[in-house]
Amino acid sequence: MKVLLINGSPRKAGNTYIAMSEIAKSLELEGIEAEIVSLGTKPIRSCIACNSCKAKGGNQCMFDDDLCNEVTAKMKECDGLIVGSPVYYGQPNGGLLALLQRALFSAGSYFTGKPVAAVAVCRRGGATASLQTMLMPFMMMHCPIVTSQYWNIVYGRDAGEAALDQEGMQTMRSLAKNMATMLNGLKNQPKPEYETRQAMNFIR
Ligand SMILES: Cc1cc2nc3c(=O)[nH]c(=O)nc-3n(C[C@H](O)[C@H](O)[C@H](O)COP(=O)(O)O)c2cc1C
Repeated sequence: MKVLLINGSPRKAGNTYIAMSEIAKSLELEGIEAEIVSLGTKPIRSCIACNSCKAKGGNQCMFDDDLCNEVTAKMKECDGLIVGSPVYYGQPNGGLLALLQRALFSAGSYFTGKPVAAVAVCRRGGATASLQTMLMPFMMMHCPIVTSQYWNIVYGRDAGEAALDQEGMQTMRSLAKNMATMLNGLKNQPKPEYETRQAMNFIR
């Protein structure tokens, strides 16, 4: 089994990477493969609601000049997903949100039912709002949300400081254990059969 960890920070060896690495190490101790993908500093387009992904019936965004489709393909292959971001003005990093929105809109079926966790890394505040923002799409895709001993938050400002947040690091290790337990519990379980979705809006 494999967990994909998406690091939304532009800082390659920053605090989010440290938090994700702690989770990855702990997952591997539990016998679960872990891959960290860092979004880095290259531009990531936002969704333009062109619906081309739906029209083509495919599972790809029509823009193929950034990391989105590559990461979407990895999201398809993984058994569990962990999304991590630094907090910017009380919200996750914009590039990460752009990528998630395009991946989910173009290939939402890839994610249905997979266990998901979010991790927010900040100097001081805005982590819980960021956690909610990252989890919102997955909460409408039958994804079990994986939690820990505390909210999945690590504190630090300058790159490297996260390693000093001992409680935060412990929270990451507990999260990894819970993800492993969830994945092992779901292994070989049949997927629930859902009713055909009734899609309604509020004006008709
Ligand atoms: C543009 C910007 C906005 C930020 N806004 C917040 C914030 O709202 N709350 C906070 O606690 N830290 C904020 N920070 C600090 C980062 O969240 C913090 O330095 C974090 O450790 C960076 O993670 P990284 O090393 O993985 O990039 C901000 C940093 C930047 C660059």
